[in-house]
Amino acid sequence: MKAAASGVVVCYYGEWANQRPGNGRFGVSDMPTDLCTHIVYSFLTLNGTTGGIIAPEQTTYEGKANSATDLVALKEKNADLKIMVAIGGWTEGSVNFTAVVNDDTLRATLVSNLYNYIDTNGFDGLDLDWEYPAQRDGADTDKEQFVTLVKELKEAFAAKSYLLTAAVAVTQSNIDLSYNVTELDKYLDYFHLMMYDFHGTWDSVTGVNAPLYAQLTDDSSLNFNVNNSVHVWINNGATPSKLVLGLGAYGKTFTLTSLNNTSTGAPFTGAGAAGPYVAEAGIYSYLEICEDQKNYPAEWNITEVEGNYVYANKDLFWVGYDNPNTIKAKAQYAKTMGLGGIMYWAVDEDDFGGICGDKFPLISAGIAGYNSA
Ligand SMILES: *[C@@H]1O[C@H](CO)[C@@H](O)[C@H](O)[C@H]1NC(C)=O
Ligand SMILES: *[C@@H]1O[C@H](CO)[C@@H](O)[C@H](O)[C@H]1NC(C)=O
Ligand SMILES: *[C@@H]1O[C@H](CO)[C@@H](O)[C@H](O)[C@H]1NC(C)=O
Ligand SMILES: *[C@@H]1O[C@H](CO)[C@@H](O)[C@H](O)[C@H]1NC(C)=O
Repeated sequence: MKAAASGVVVCYYGEWANQRPGNGRFGVSDMPTDLCTHIVYSFLTLNGTTGGIIAPEQTTYEGKANSATDLVALKEKNADLKIMVAIGGWTEGSVNFTAVVNDDTLRATLVSNLYNYIDTNGFDGLDLDWEYPAQRDGADTDKEQFVTLVKELKEAFAAKSYLLTAAVAVTQSNIDLSYNVTELDKYLDYFHLMMYDFHGTWDSVTGVNAPLYAQLTDDSSLNFNVNNSVHVWINNGATPSKLVLGLGAYGKTFTLTSLNNTSTGAPFTGAGAAGPYVAEAGIYSYLEICEDQKNYPAEWNITEVEGNYVYANKDLFWVGYDNPNTIKAKAQYAKTMGLGGIMYWAVDEDDFGGICGDKFPLISAGIAGYNSA
């Protein structure tokens, strides 16, 4: 039995991971119930014209219509485990949220539908994953109305003390557009800080997914890293113990222009090719990274910038990511800054099967780091 975490360990679970092939296939029975304190079932979506909600509907690999019942049953293994459900996600975007929150009747319908879904299924709470209020075809009034939604959910949930959290974007410009931090802080139990996707193929040069501090090649004016964003959230009035540091169990991939420059800040021609499991160009799960490095050790050139980030290339394929050492450093940092714990996007992208060594190396390293600071 591993040491339990002294803070929260929030594990997002994307039900679509059930559909991945081979070693990448992940379902409820793979869940590390001794490591996570909160599991967040992803994603409910919403009907913008009715305020209705639509449950995840990927058949699980164990043959269930969805994961809800099996997830809630995990509480039999660990009575302290909290099972939450998330609504939204990147793909859902803003349009339906905007339609619903700006209409008093639709918003009340949504609140009531969410309460009933949680109550009927035996969940412990809700995570709001609106990406993001007043952005991506949302409306200017979203920032204020998001607070209204959060307040009304909190009131509806009070009778049963259901948890209420939100996954949030992390830069000052996102806060300015989307979040009234001091108001949200009154009602939310936790902010899940999405501290990843700092770099990607939208940039002009290679960059790692989630540097803890500045990259060695960063221009000094570029404050695009975990440390800066944690300061931003605290400076905007969030209670530090309500902040949960998001950790990406994946890297951002690129195709280098040449082998003359294989560092961060190098020219690239496009995204790295999709991997075998996540199957998305530009992204490799930690499992995809570590398994390939294990299978082709001589072909990988790996550079770890201690306590900050890792990047590696195999010929022109380049990935910037976190390994157990950098995850541990980030979790220590979270504890030092007084944050409430750590969060993983996503539990199904770690080496859950122990293909490269021990099972769940990133989640275990985060817990060890948080507990040691
Ligand atoms: C939203 O709900 C309405 C009324 O039930 C239905 O007609 C419509 O198809 C739904 N929209 C989607 C995208 O499911
Ligand atoms: C949500 O909004 C999108 C447009 O972004 C739309 O295509 C989709 O049908 C909507 N879903 C529902 C259930 O209304
Ligand atoms: C947050 O909302 C409060 C109450 O409506 C308001 O007084 C305050 O100016 C808002 N702050 C921001 C940053 O929008
Ligand atoms: C962390 O961020 C703060 C605020 O931006 C900054 O003052 C500090 O120098 C940063 N620490 C490091 C080690 O870069």
